[in-house]
Amino acid sequence: MERIFVKNDLCLLIVVVALIVVKELEGCLEKEKLGLLDLKTFLISNSGSTYNNLTSWDDKSDVDCCLWERVKCNHSTGHVIDLLLGGVTIPTDTTDDWLLNFSYFLPFNQLVHLDLKANYLDGWVEIEGNFIVID
Ligand SMILES: *[C@@H]1O[C@H](CO)[C@@H](O)[C@H](O)[C@H]1NC(C)=O
Ligand SMILES: *[C@@H]1O[C@H](CO)[C@@H](O)[C@H](O)[C@H]1NC(C)=O
Ligand SMILES: *[C@@H]1O[C@H](CO)[C@@H](O)[C@H](O)[C@H]1NC(C)=O
Repeated sequence: MERIFVKNDLCLLIVVVALIVVKELEGCLEKEKLGLLDLKTFLISNSGSTYNNLTSWDDKSDVDCCLWERVKCNHSTGHVIDLLLGGVTIPTDTTDDWLLNFSYFLPFNQLVHLDLKANYLDGWVEIEGNFIVID
C-alpha cells in the first residue's frame, strides 16, 4: 500500500515539474502570433510592393512565432518585444509609397523596438483613422 502512495506522489511530482518546464519554455502568445500573421497579410497586400521575406511567418511551419525571422520575444513572458521590419518590402515599378496602419501593431502590447526603416513608407494611418505624413 505504502509503495503505491510513494509511486503516486512521484508521478504527481513529475507532472508538476513537467508543467513548470512547459510553462518556462512556452513560446509566443496566440494573440500575438495571429497579430503577426495579420501584419504579414497587411504588408503583402497593402504595401503595393513586391513581397520579399517573412517566409518563416507561417502558421504551419512553426508553432512558436518567437522563432520567426525578424521577431524577438521576451522568453520569460512570451511577449513580442522586438520587430525588425526594416527593408521588408521592395517597391515595384507600379508601386507608390504606401501608408502603414498602426492597428496591426496593437496586439503587441509589450513591443519595445519597432524597426520600419527602408520600407518606402509615405506615412501611416493612426488608430483613430487620422492621417499623418512622414516628411
Ligand atoms: C530576403 O529575400 C531575398 C530574396 O527574395 C534574399 O535575397 C534576401 O537575402 C532575404 N533577406 C533576408 C534578411 O532574409
Ligand atoms: C522580460 O519580462 C520580465 C517580466 O516582465 C522582465 O523582468 C525582464 O526584464 C524582461 N526581459 C527582457 C529581456 O525584456
Ligand atoms: C486599419 O486596420 C484596422 C484593422 O484591420 C481596420 O479596422 C481599420 O479600418 C484600418 N484603417 C484604415 C484607415 O484603413
